[in-house]
Amino acid sequence: MEEKNFLVLAQNRKFLPYYGESQKKWEEPFFFIQAADTQYGMHASYKLKNLDLGWEEEIAWSKQLVKDINAMYPKPKFLVVCGDLTDAFPDSHPDLRKRQVKDFKKVFAGLDIPLVCVCGNHDVGNTPTPSTVAGYKKDFGDDYFSFWCGGVFFIVLNSQFYEDASKTAALAAEQEIWLEEQLEIVRNENPQHAVVFQHIPWFISFPEEDKEYFNMEYGLRMEMLERFHSAGIRYIFCGHYHRNAGGFYKDMEQVITSAVGVQLGDTHHGYRLVRVLENRLVHQYFALGTAPTHVHLPSRKPMLPPAAAAAASPARPVWSFTSTATGEVTPTRKPSLAL
Ligand SMILES: [Fe+2]
Repeated sequence: MEEKNFLVLAQNRKFLPYYGESQKKWEEPFFFIQAADTQYGMHASYKLKNLDLGWEEEIAWSKQLVKDINAMYPKPKFLVVCGDLTDAFPDSHPDLRKRQVKDFKKVFAGLDIPLVCVCGNHDVGNTPTPSTVAGYKKDFGDDYFSFWCGGVFFIVLNSQFYEDASKTAALAAEQEIWLEEQLEIVRNENPQHAVVFQHIPWFISFPEEDKEYFNMEYGLRMEMLERFHSAGIRYIFCGHYHRNAGGFYKDMEQVITSAVGVQLGDTHHGYRLVRVLENRLVHQYFALGTAPTHVHLPSRKPMLPPAAAAAASPARPVWSFTSTATGEVTPTRKPSLAL
């Protein structure tokens, strides 16, 4: 696929594939894929300590991700990558970043389902500026937005504003005003579930833990967790940690998903399959190449076998792509899964 086939889908604080009143209605269970830290270039910069060594490893890992997802039946509603799409910082290495972004787009243009991009610290810089945020928006779309999908309300945040807004006070304040409006929607419109996507987690294992590199400052953390919970948010999905982790604040779950790219623990490169059921979300992490091709969902509608479903399906929506993704050799995959 070519870079130009990659579509920027988050605009005007909306997500174009799922836009409109019809998405507010819950009809039946569905699933989506959550991933994080594809981080093109980290293997060279962090593991090999040589920025000139490219990102062939990350390209191979994300091609496998695309290949896995495109083989799934039924299709997930979307793939969300929770930040650090690429590694090179926009302020210190803009040219390197440009090349990484180009290759990221070439791979993900082959994805058959909509891609939800979330910005991480490597995408807008550890201390974002109006210029780095504008650059991100040009490449990947809005840094924060919301959308309804199948009766569920999803809020995508720019978590870097909570980490360091010293050069983006006005932009961070705008996100806060907007976020309050989104929480008001959760309070008033009673979605089936309300879910937040962001890069940096509020905490790693439990809300009362000390501040460290991978979590948020304690006071802000507790304030935001209570703000989310009292509005009705019950799930927060994050990345940044390059390991699987997470925990609960009251009955609100925060899930941290390891990286598609470089691992900092002993987890395998992978992603999370999230089934959205009527009364809860159920999620499971899979190593690349090991997820099921056939995902069972409790459904009112009888499921057609894949070949019959393909024949009966309508023309592709305009935001979709024909996949020509070529991945690496796929390890043995389970044919089906009921979580
Ligand atoms: Fe990362």
